[in-house]
Amino acid sequence: MTSLFDIEALAKRNLPPDYWDWISSGYGEGMLVRRNQEAFEEIRIRPRPRVLMDASKIDTSTTVLGERIELPVFASPAGTQWIAHPDAEVAVARGVGSAGTLMNLATGSHNTTEEVSEAARGPLWFQLYHLTDNITRYMLPKVESLGYSAICLTLGRPSGMRREKGPFSDYSPSGDIAWGDLIEVPELRRQIDNLDRSSYNIFNLETVEWIRNITSLPLVIKEVMTAQDARKCVDYGASGIVVSNHGGRTSDKGKASIEALSSIVKEVGDEIEVYLDSGVRSGSDIVKALAMGARAVGVGRPVIWGLALDGHNGVNRVFEILRDEFERAMSICGCISVADIDTSTIVSLKGNE
Ligand SMILES: Cc1cc2nc3c(=O)[nH]c(=O)nc-3n(C[C@H](O)[C@H](O)[C@H](O)COP(=O)(O)O)c2cc1C
Repeated sequence: MTSLFDIEALAKRNLPPDYWDWISSGYGEGMLVRRNQEAFEEIRIRPRPRVLMDASKIDTSTTVLGERIELPVFASPAGTQWIAHPDAEVAVARGVGSAGTLMNLATGSHNTTEEVSEAARGPLWFQLYHLTDNITRYMLPKVESLGYSAICLTLGRPSGMRREKGPFSDYSPSGDIAWGDLIEVPELRRQIDNLDRSSYNIFNLETVEWIRNITSLPLVIKEVMTAQDARKCVDYGASGIVVSNHGGRTSDKGKASIEALSSIVKEVGDEIEVYLDSGVRSGSDIVKALAMGARAVGVGRPVIWGLALDGHNGVNRVFEILRDEFERAMSICGCISVADIDTSTIVSLKGNE
């Protein structure tokens, strides 16, 4: 297993075909799933041999919201991990922790926020789908007291992916064992069962402000794809944003996340941290995103592939492969530290260097 593509191929063999199809596909005909990766291929890293550079001194560490991580890559939040492996989010926390980086735990996880914080060795963020005021009011103080270091509010929909017709297009994973934190509060669990799913993404900035005011944790807003929205996030007190199109699962219109990054960084990059996910599959993808101003990048599907392969060891393997590839890419570009990576490290094949 020398690349994430090897891990993907092995995971496909281990997972039920309907679930495999569900995690891999995207909205509509999956155009944005493909575009997320193609857009990375349209950028090249610029080799800059530095003969006197001591490659053994390459340092891949950075900080996110002031916390050190050994690699500028984190686990993006993803529900349904229990289908890939019975140890689910606890295994992700262990695998990510061994790699010394950050896990962003999905709201609808099977394992509770306590179980995950016990297993974690590195920083944890809690990803929030704001479903009802009561659930948000219950979860935020809880994760704050457990030591989670940020709330990551996702603006996109938690479900409702419309997929191209295929043999498994009607499949949808059961949510019976999701929302582990709410098992002890059945009245809140019932609120989820009774939710009107069409109202999930009815969101406005007053809601963001309300959330901002009920937690003292930094707020990161996920799935921001335009400079205008990024500006609003800053105005409403966000400490960071994740440029993301949900891995192409919530829309088939618009840009790849890497295509949206530069204008967002130009607008708010001096004021808050900007992260990116969707389509990151290699160490050179990490260099490209960092060169364009991302502080760190997330991976979603690759974590599930690692889980399917070998639980926490498989997740750890995903991050170790990314670390090796990132180190090699840094060495090719003549970068000793993450701070050395800048716009001169890449070349766009479309001509906008
Ligand atoms: C199976 C699956 C479940 C996901 N669940 C969530 C979720 O619960 N919350 C969320 O904010 N994003 C969710 N995402 C989106 C990921 O956080 C991330 O944005 C996306 O997977 C990144 O793209 P990549 O898979 O190409 O790395 C999910 C993605 C997948 C594939």
